[in-house]
Amino acid sequence: MSRNYQIAPSILSADFARLGDEVRAVIAAGADLIHFDVMDNHYVPNLTIGPMVCSAIKPHVGTTPIDVHLMVKPVDAIIPEFAKAGANIISFHPEASEHIDRTIALIRDCGCRPGLVFNPATPLSYLDYTLDKLDLVLLMSVNPGFGGQKFIDGVLPKVAEVRRRIDASGKSILLEVDGGIKADNIAKVAAAGADTFVAGSAIYGANDYAAAIRNMRSALTSHVSA
Ligand code: DX5
Ligand code: ZN
Repeated sequence: MSRNYQIAPSILSADFARLGDEVRAVIAAGADLIHFDVMDNHYVPNLTIGPMVCSAIKPHVGTTPIDVHLMVKPVDAIIPEFAKAGANIISFHPEASEHIDRTIALIRDCGCRPGLVFNPATPLSYLDYTLDKLDLVLLMSVNPGFGGQKFIDGVLPKVAEVRRRIDASGKSILLEVDGGIKADNIAKVAAAGADTFVAGSAIYGANDYAAAIRNMRSALTSHVSA
């Protein structure tokens, strides 16, 4: 089935000393979203970047949305900070919020699009009373915390189940998958029902970002025509 596929390079694998240039480079190379990984050394075992860095890259993104993936606990206090810093989409993990419905509403009230993130072993029951309030469902295909990990195939049936739920809802909700995605496995993730693909090491680890993104798009095209 043909969908509007989007590629979201994760700046986690960019050269942080040259972040503005790195963001401009992937946008010039064809990025649809800038994926921004926020890790707190508490909810996940790594420490990355916060709202100040989001503000710093904002002048470099033009109209490309910033897709903030919060791996922080607690999560609510940082949400208005990211909204002020120019985030467009803000996603959080349900285990990191005491009041999931309230956190979704907070993201919406701050003028951003809310997303809920599922670790490989997090049950989809968290969607039962939330799906109609979300603009994005993000399925992790690695355990969060680091770039460059191997894609977990067991997430594919989960992608298909979320696709079924989104289609049944009749709403336009993005289905994003994050972790270990490359040109040689992106087609099976799309076949399972994803429409938005995060890729960190596969893009920023390549010498030619445009070629890396082009290879992903051509794998998606061959999946559609297969
Ligand atoms: C992992 C992050 C990912 C990561 C993906 O916790 O959420 O967004 O940057 O990196 P790759 O594509 O290298 O697996
Ligand atoms: Zn991420």
